[in-house]
Amino acid sequence: MSALLLYCRPGFEKECLAELTEAASTKGVFGWANLETHSGFVLYETESADVVYDLVPELVFSRDAWPVFSRLHDLDPVDRLSPIIEAVKAFLAEQNYNQFGDVSCEFAEGDVYRATSKFAGKFVHPVRQALRKAHLLSKKEDSSKPALHLFFKDSSQVLIGADKPRLRTVWPMGIARLRFPSSAPSRSTLKLEEAFIYFLGNDWRQQLENCHTAVDLGASPGGWTWQLVNQKMNVYAIDNGPMDQALLDTGLVDHLLEDGFVWKPAKTVDWLVCDMVEKPLRVAKLMYEWLHQRHARYAIFNLKLPMKKRFHEWADIKEQLESQMAVQHPRAILRAKHLYHDREEITVFLDLRNQNG
Ligand SMILES: C[S@@+](CC[C@H](N)C(=O)[O-])C[C@H]1O[C@@H](n2cnc3c(N)ncnc32)[C@H](O)[C@@H]1O
Repeated sequence: MSALLLYCRPGFEKECLAELTEAASTKGVFGWANLETHSGFVLYETESADVVYDLVPELVFSRDAWPVFSRLHDLDPVDRLSPIIEAVKAFLAEQNYNQFGDVSCEFAEGDVYRATSKFAGKFVHPVRQALRKAHLLSKKEDSSKPALHLFFKDSSQVLIGADKPRLRTVWPMGIARLRFPSSAPSRSTLKLEEAFIYFLGNDWRQQLENCHTAVDLGASPGGWTWQLVNQKMNVYAIDNGPMDQALLDTGLVDHLLEDGFVWKPAKTVDWLVCDMVEKPLRVAKLMYEWLHQRHARYAIFNLKLPMKKRFHEWADIKEQLESQMAVQHPRAILRAKHLYHDREEITVFLDLRNQNG
């Protein structure tokens, strides 16, 4: 494989590449990319795409990725399919796979590339039929097999790649398609829902059934609190700003006009969530202290990143938390992601695993 294609939020290509480059170098792998700012993707040229692909689940700024095995240019508008089928056939023969389990036609999110979405959406049907006819694709979708990915820069150029089921993301291209609940007071409710799915998995609602109490720091108007209340949790909502009246009417919310950096609960709560707009290191330290002092068992929080050096800011914070965890909580879990619903921010999950001795 000669390259790895990564998707990211348009405008975060530099962060995506910087993080990947650093991760790759720890494996002795080097590569390069011609960055297209605001494109929404990074094409990382490397002889060791498979090695780098394995690192993707740990990356924060990449939404999804797969190794590229073929690049076709100047596709004939009259017959785009034949060269694609030939390339797929050659790859399968070389790899000793017999079939792919699925196929997708993809495009980048950047404004310049968005126009390709219509073409890609239509092209997937003929390509699926042609692959099935040539016995290169299973009759029914089979998620246990590698999936074929076609990334169209435009209708005449395509990158072709194969994923690995164990490295597949929850959402294709990392685009979390969630429905906005009409009774939620703010769109940022989707950020917390996406975070729960991403960090806990699709059965997150069942996992939260045993959690009854939560604190939301910086809660106004209540989008994050709404998610917690929807899981029937009792929530302390800490903010000087107003909370949505319908949420207060549930009787599950205690709205306290307090400073989120000072207030603490009388008893340990299950969840701590925090969306305060503050310096990211200050928020990260606060979250760590809450869990270290057993005010809460688990935390999900947002870190607002400055415009410049966004990757380095996070790398510094991560290093500080990790060195503290290595001494105090060696079994701790720290994960972070630039979620689809995040803007100039990332979302972090922290579990110090110190609640059971
Ligand atoms: C991005 S908004 C939160 C939106 C909320 N998560 C939602 O889903 O509706 C940030 C909030 O943090 C609050 N905030 C900032 N600093 C705070 C502090 N020191 N203590 C409590 N709240 C704070 C602000 O008043 C603001 O309402």
